[in-house]
Amino acid sequence: MTSLTRIYSNLPKLNEMEFKELLLFVITLCLSALTSPQDSCGQRPLVAPPGMSRIVGGREAPEGAWPWQVSIQIQSIHHCSGTIVSSLTVLTATHCFHKFRSISTSHFRVVAGLCALSAPGDQTQIRSISKVQMHEDYNDVTSDNDVTLVLLSSPFAFTDYIQPVCTPHNVTHELILNFSQCFITGWGSTYYTGGQTNRLQEAEVELIDRRTCNLMTWYNGLITENMICAGLESGASDSCQGDSGGPLQCYSEDEDRFYLVGVTSFGYMCGVPRKPGVYARTSRFAAWLNTCQTASAPAAHGLHTGLISALLCVPPMLLLNPH
Ligand code: ARG
Repeated sequence: MTSLTRIYSNLPKLNEMEFKELLLFVITLCLSALTSPQDSCGQRPLVAPPGMSRIVGGREAPEGAWPWQVSIQIQSIHHCSGTIVSSLTVLTATHCFHKFRSISTSHFRVVAGLCALSAPGDQTQIRSISKVQMHEDYNDVTSDNDVTLVLLSSPFAFTDYIQPVCTPHNVTHELILNFSQCFITGWGSTYYTGGQTNRLQEAEVELIDRRTCNLMTWYNGLITENMICAGLESGASDSCQGDSGGPLQCYSEDEDRFYLVGVTSFGYMCGVPRKPGVYARTSRFAAWLNTCQTASAPAAHGLHTGLISALLCVPPMLLLNPH
């Protein structure tokens, strides 16, 4: 008799009802472990914390610098960016999908661990999409609530090149994180009306408070509470067409981690003074993100996989909770 079988036979017998309850509990536990953000998030194994080094106004990103950045592609062509928030979920912008509702998700794919669009390497992982959860209050006129959660057909395996980002728990958490530096990244154009760039670009930006961003000479009241502006007053650093859905990520020195502060949404042309990039403010969507991730867990992974994980998880659970 193996030691595991010996432990099993010594356990009190569960009736069918208790067993079903236990199984359900374990399935939920295992699935939420797959879809909820990791304890380890926002860290980049291959690149040191941002130094004092000072898209539009950007530079090529070092390899592995933004391991949560993905390219969302339609028929293998870069369409929008997204950010890995858990092994099974990617956060992006609703406007990346809203206009394309008639295109079946089977034509889309999500590519992680990518530096040059034209040259996916050994580090690249490709996943298809099982569900697109657009924010139910998205407004395509004002761009309010421009966030969408993409559920992958199977989880990314985290490596030095593929990692999840951290997300703020709420607005207060975002404020106390006291970010020292923020960056935007993407394969979008380097000037308005320009084409995509092949290699991932990064640029440092400053967060701009809503009051300033809503001034008459800036966006004149268009910035809702669910948005955050970032860039430079001069317009020297900005995101642009093709960067949508991608991350505005900020570094917390205290925690030595990156947080996803915004999702690239819109802007008036690119790099125009006092017309900075506008991002969906992730701290305003923390609760939505949680419900979405929990609700879609079984759909994303299928009961079949759920049962397998449950069976793998049952032995330790029985040991913890004999009756
Ligand atoms: N909506 C754009 C896209 O689809 C992103 C534009 C961002 N513009 C800006 N000036 N920051 O790619």
